[in-house]
Amino acid sequence: MIDIQHVTKRYKDVTAVDDVNFTIRQGEIFGIIGYSGAGKSTLLRCLNLLERPTEGKILIDGKDLTSLSDKEVRKERQKIGMIFQHFHLVSSKTVFDNVAFSLKAAGKTKEEIQKRVPELLEMVGLSDRSRHYPAQLSGGQKQRVGIARALANDPKVLLCDEATSALDPTTTKSILQLLKKINENLGITVVLITHEMEVVQDVCHRVAVMENGKVVELGEVYDIFAAPKTALAKQFVRTVHSLELPERLLAGRKGPIVQITFQGESAEEAVISETLKQFNVSANILHGQISYIQDRPLGTLIIEMIGSNADVQQSIDYITKRTNQLEVLAGVA
Ligand SMILES: Nc1ncnc2c1ncn2[C@@H]1O[C@H](COP(=O)(O)OP(=O)(O)O)[C@@H](O)[C@H]1O
Ligand SMILES: [Mg+2]
Repeated sequence: MIDIQHVTKRYKDVTAVDDVNFTIRQGEIFGIIGYSGAGKSTLLRCLNLLERPTEGKILIDGKDLTSLSDKEVRKERQKIGMIFQHFHLVSSKTVFDNVAFSLKAAGKTKEEIQKRVPELLEMVGLSDRSRHYPAQLSGGQKQRVGIARALANDPKVLLCDEATSALDPTTTKSILQLLKKINENLGITVVLITHEMEVVQDVCHRVAVMENGKVVELGEVYDIFAAPKTALAKQFVRTVHSLELPERLLAGRKGPIVQITFQGESAEEAVISETLKQFNVSANILHGQISYIQDRPLGTLIIEMIGSNADVQQSIDYITKRTNQLEVLAGVA
């Protein structure tokens, strides 16, 4: 649906986006995560040509936006909604007029606007705030107005630039739920930039991890949580599934401490317990957790393995080979 083909964006000597190449699928919620300065916003702005790529192409449903004139681009841009971290509402206009503004810009009649705005406000749960001004709204309500405005002209795509980064955790959850509902009910493709892995875990289907203008890792969110490959992806996963063990647990131990990640399927759990039995190793469970990502369970188990050195090493090797998801957190004391 959105084909990003070898897109590079340079500002003088800064390469903000560096040869990015991937496809966003119709109907998915696609996350782009990275630290500040990674190039996320620049890439997102390239998708609707708010920034023209220095090199490369953006194709939406097969249409090459980079080949269009500025006038044609403005027309295409109406099919792409966008929301921002700081909402960008017009403070002198009411909620109704903020939303009506996009409809006017698209040339809708007064009658169409009178009919459409209440539908949009209803969809974002703000029917009773129509005559309020932005200053009278909470952050979450302001973002809902931003969403209503972005959806006014029935876009195919919704771009979200850190849309929840200015909100508290509870409000963040409710805005993410709204985005999910919009994605599911209206079939709108959502591209969501964030620096928070929890946001990715909560709503995204796939994610790209960015660093220094490049995509360093890309895949299904579940797979990235289950087996992150790059150091950066591992860091982001750890921010959500951080199982730091207290020093005192690491101190008086009798065997190595390992972390095993398993995909919540009984086959894998069986590998672990059968291996330990087979090699005569006993496990002291220090920590266990199951998270649900896209409704699929992902388990993490931290155990101390107690047995003879040879037996312990053999079972580590065997579990590693079978699950590929064993990490030794602390070796033998
Ligand atoms: N308009 C601009 N002019 C010059 N440099 C820019 C401009 N926009 C972004 N940059 C630079 O490009 C890099 C990526 O920025 P940005 O896309 O905003 O990253 P992110 O959104 O991941 O924080 C940064 O080094 C930033 O300073
Ligand atoms: Mg940014």
